Amino acid sequence: MISKEKLNILISEEDMKKRIGEVAAQINRDYAGKNLLVVGILKGAILFYADLVRLLDMDVQFDFMTISSYGNATDSTGEVKIRKDLDTSIVGRDVLIVEDIVDTGLTLKNLKEVLSTRKPASLKICTMLDKPSRRRVEIRPDYCCFEIPDRFVIGCGLDYAQWGRQFKDIWYVRPEFIDTL
Ligand code: PRP
Repeated sequence: MISKEKLNILISEEDMKKRIGEVAAQINRDYAGKNLLVVGILKGAILFYADLVRLLDMDVQFDFMTISSYGNATDSTGEVKIRKDLDTSIVGRDVLIVEDIVDTGLTLKNLKEVLSTRKPASLKICTMLDKPSRRRVEIRPDYCCFEIPDRFVIGCGLDYAQWGRQFKDIWYVRPEFIDTL
């Protein structure tokens, strides 16, 4: 489990809600009159996904993927294993991938390469958080709510050992507790 005594708020629920509204407005402008397949990456993206799609104006269909990275954090090959694939063909579709966080970028770079081979009309990325200082490969999300510093973050779908995903704000682990989680 995770105790909030070891955490501080980085982004409040209110600020996140406001920013998701701005990003949704941008997506509505860019895809006006089109239909969009919105692909959520489980599990972390689930709450951001739900907040975002409710604000989209165009015709939208849902789909989801579950990805696991090979290797561990310090020795990642960068390959991704698809544990749950899309139910939908994306040939000729406008596809928006929705993620909770871009960290090293390895997951999204590989996922983008895999999905590109399936010939979508367009393929873009929308992320709730971006940690550009951690990037190991060149990838830029097309839409991003907040760039954040290199901190361990929990809440709005992000977890510590599967705990804390339901927290309404984005919290970070206070530095003095980082080794005691
Ligand atoms: C997280 C996050 C991204 C990935 C980002 O998923 O949701 O998919 O890591 O990291 P990267 O940019 O370094 O590749 P995680 O594997 O923790 O699964 P989860 O969504 O189920 O929490």
